[in-house]
Amino acid sequence: EKAGFDHFMLKEIHEQPKAYRDTMLGRIADDGLSVNLKELSMLDDYIRSISKVHIVACGTAYHAGLVGKSVIESLARIPVETDVASEYRYRSPIITPDTLVIVVSQSGETADTLAALREARRNGAKVLAITNVVGSSVAREADDVLVTWAGPEIAVASTKAYSSQLIAFYLLGLNLARVLGTQEQQTVKELIAALHQLPEQVESILTQSAVLKQVAESMANHRSLFFIGRGVDYAVAQEGSLKLKEISYIHSEAYAAGELKHGTLALIEDGVPVIALVTQEGLYEKTLSNIKEVKARGAHVLAVTNAGFEHEVAQSVDEVFSIPKTLPLLTPALSVVPLQLLSYYASLALGHDVDKPRNLAKSVTVE
Ligand code: M6R
Repeated sequence: EKAGFDHFMLKEIHEQPKAYRDTMLGRIADDGLSVNLKELSMLDDYIRSISKVHIVACGTAYHAGLVGKSVIESLARIPVETDVASEYRYRSPIITPDTLVIVVSQSGETADTLAALREARRNGAKVLAITNVVGSSVAREADDVLVTWAGPEIAVASTKAYSSQLIAFYLLGLNLARVLGTQEQQTVKELIAALHQLPEQVESILTQSAVLKQVAESMANHRSLFFIGRGVDYAVAQEGSLKLKEISYIHSEAYAAGELKHGTLALIEDGVPVIALVTQEGLYEKTLSNIKEVKARGAHVLAVTNAGFEHEVAQSVDEVFSIPKTLPLLTPALSVVPLQLLSYYASLALGHDVDKPRNLAKSVTVE
């Protein structure tokens, strides 16, 4: 049932190209010019009436929601807040009938996420669920459902569900943009063409796992490490850090690269591994200067950057992993893959139970 892989996690990492294709299937027009999510019942008039979006989720799904915020704000120009479900419910959020609440849950059974959904509906908001399980509680109780067709995810550490949630957000963002007329046709065309390239690009990343295995094995000797990035790179950094903690039990922290010098830089000393995401063209120089700050304190830096920029980055870091070229908004769907592999190989090197980490359950049905 692991299809020749040693663990479900590795199998699921390798299933991402298929999960991307399946999640896009039938949702993009054949001419590649628009996205039309026909399964949604929300009418164009309703979409035009949305004044704000709340994205609510837990754990990895929350991290997908952080990217979702950037996607919806940049494509549809609607203000978005992303909340952890267990916080959202208790901060008396301002939910109005013109708030669209998006809950994200792989299992569709997470107690806090389900409770947030109920709270949103009680306040008269419409709820859209992004879930991987068609008949789940979240799917049944939401007004609309956008299914991620990632297939069953068995490993406790979420991989293909997260990245398929990103695809769902790209499609949703483009669907909202079509109705609201917020994007030029050329931009939409380029985004759709780039989306179609993602599955093959993930495949090409997967062929380079040997390099990541080596890096992971050297990371496994350290007690603590850092992930840094800006913009969507920071969102992916948070996901990379959670994945590593969850299955390798190595402490790590994700930091907005520009925020390091406001305190955390004090923790950087000789040999501390830092994984820097440098995929946002407009922010290259800024992140590179943060990398220099940690290098100057002795950090050992692995940069994940875009093909074409790797030589420039190589001058400031110890190791570079490059991801294929895509549009800045879409890089998370690629850059998360090397981070998943790093955690996998670190966990393996330390002899942990990769698929069933200690203290954790696949689906958290208690609050
Ligand atoms: O099923 P859900 O997406 O609602 O689960 C939410 C989190 O419990 C889940 O993503 C958790 O953080 C993962 N084990 C992380 O890999």
